Amino acid sequence: MRKKIAAANWKMNLTIQEGKELVNSILNEIQSIPEGKELIFAVPFPYITEIETQLKGHQNTSVAAQNISNLKAGAYTGEVCGFMLQSIATKYVIIGHSERRMYFHETNEVTKSKVDLALEYKISPLFCCGEPLEIRESGSQNEFVYKQVEESLFHLDAENIQKVVIAYEPIWAIGTGLTASSEQAQEMHAAIRNLLSSKYGHNVAENISILYGGSVKANNAAELFAMKDVDGGLVGGASLDAHEFAAIVKAL
Ligand code: G3P
Repeated sequence: MRKKIAAANWKMNLTIQEGKELVNSILNEIQSIPEGKELIFAVPFPYITEIETQLKGHQNTSVAAQNISNLKAGAYTGEVCGFMLQSIATKYVIIGHSERRMYFHETNEVTKSKVDLALEYKISPLFCCGEPLEIRESGSQNEFVYKQVEESLFHLDAENIQKVVIAYEPIWAIGTGLTASSEQAQEMHAAIRNLLSSKYGHNVAENISILYGGSVKANNAAELFAMKDVDGGLVGGASLDAHEFAAIVKAL
């Protein structure tokens, strides 16, 4: 179901104590999240259960894992699979983040299998797509993103695609302070929604949240989130600062 979402991606940062203090500060500043909006914390695996406990009683808040194995179970030391995440009631999982594609060589095929396993264990994929700078400079960003979406998601039926949250994260905007303009974001989000509509129909496409990620800050969130097809943000660096991230949440 389409909603406005502010998702914090802590990446590989914070001790558990720092994380709990950060969540506490944000919740104190936000007070409550109304229906139709959602606050998600994507935290390192070891912190999922404690942050979930901390969020109990806070409506419309959830925890996400930052990864899921594309293997089901077994002798794969260090991996964390779908049924493990389901056993600790993880609601979302980030899949296809550019950092996993870059550093861990995750292909569209791997992200497709991760999407399937997440859905099998009733975990909603937070599916990331986005182009590198050279693709943007060549003007072929739409084709690049379409390929990521089609190869990893378009095998899903209409029911399952609506369980996916899509995050458009232009790689050249991640961690660089170089945010996509609201026009650039809206143009790509509308293109993604049109692609979804061409496959699944208008009503299904209108029911899917599409977030923007890439240097979202307190001073640009409101303009970005006001765009027709931008349904919120997936936030990295700014989510590590309680006041900054609370301001982004308030901009939803
Ligand atoms: O997943 C969100 C992240 O990639 C964006 O990072 O630091 O540019 O907000 P940042």
